[in-house]
Amino acid sequence: MSTPTWIDAAAADAVPQDDVIGLAVDGRDIALYGVDGEVFATDNICTHGHARLCDGFLDGHEIECPLHQGKFDIRDGRPMCAPVTDALRTYPVKIEGGRIFIAVA
Ligand code: FES
Repeated sequence: MSTPTWIDAAAADAVPQDDVIGLAVDGRDIALYGVDGEVFATDNICTHGHARLCDGFLDGHEIECPLHQGKFDIRDGRPMCAPVTDALRTYPVKIEGGRIFIAVA
């Protein structure tokens, strides 16, 4: 197994609770979500089309795509309803020293 590379993504207080932000991290378009005091990270581009999930609607652990209303579980990226069928990539997250780090392979 390869050791993950942890990338400094944002300040811990930059991610609002029950909301999502999009940002560029190491050349990737990443979405960071704040839910129940935890932070989750996924790719920000929907697997169905070119829509940014940070413009969607977060309900608990589900993000709804703003374009065709497909939904993903942000904890594991699994598609929750049509029209999305492909899983969304998720990233491990850790918070240290007031910063959010995400692991990229
Ligand atoms: Fe996201 Fe179609 S682009 S559901």
